[in-house]
Amino acid sequence: MSATSGINMELLRSSDNAEGSLKSMQPFIDLMMKYECALMEIETKLKVLNTEFALQHNRNPFESIKSRLKQPISIIDKMKKKGLPLTVENIEENLTDIAGIRVICSFPEDIYILADLLTDQDDINVVCVKDYIRNPKPNGYRSLHLIVEIPIFLSKEKKYMKVEVQFRTIAMDFWASLDHKLKYKKDNLKHPEIIAQELKKCADMSTAMDYKMQEIRHMLE
Ligand code: GTP
Ligand code: MG
Repeated sequence: MSATSGINMELLRSSDNAEGSLKSMQPFIDLMMKYECALMEIETKLKVLNTEFALQHNRNPFESIKSRLKQPISIIDKMKKKGLPLTVENIEENLTDIAGIRVICSFPEDIYILADLLTDQDDINVVCVKDYIRNPKPNGYRSLHLIVEIPIFLSKEKKYMKVEVQFRTIAMDFWASLDHKLKYKKDNLKHPEIIAQELKKCADMSTAMDYKMQEIRHMLE
């Protein structure tokens, strides 16, 4: 992409230059379309694996998949935090979570089975792995995060796009969803450390439950 295709997203905010804004938006819209295609590719790969696994093992390794594209306002905020000029090139080079997929699995071991099957595919490049299951965050957060690159085939080009894939069990997702909701209420707390301790206890309980349920499944097999 040429340097002149950089989009100044501040233009978006000025209502008196609507036509200019729309024109300068095009490279950004194109980029978001490419991320959307990458999401479709990864989602299809995961669904194919789920279908095959279900046939072979008589159960589904994942419960659900949710995809999302990062909102423009969140992209602007993150670029500001990083202190980078808002250009399409900078966005693509520096943000790895514009396209995000969350895969909710039944059991912890299914996460690694699925993640390995996905990353072993020869058109996928693994850019980064953050294993917050083997190494949970101090607050108790657990999930397996992968940043992968996947090619999308457009009429005139083949292009590798980055996608963040988060694998979680139902229990990990339950904790993370409530933790996320509570975040907005955590400002100005009198005793934030007590709340943090209690949330960590909940995380430990949900971890224990995850492995107990997995053990029960093994007993039934
Ligand atoms: P971001 O700037 O938030 O993307 O963080 P990062 O680049 O350091 O990446 P990291 O892999 O640590 O986290 C990325 C995503 O994981 C977040 O956007 C959340 O969706 C999720 N996440 C990470 N930590 C937590 C947490 O403590 N609680 C919850 N609820 N979600 C978390
Ligand atoms: Mg993020």
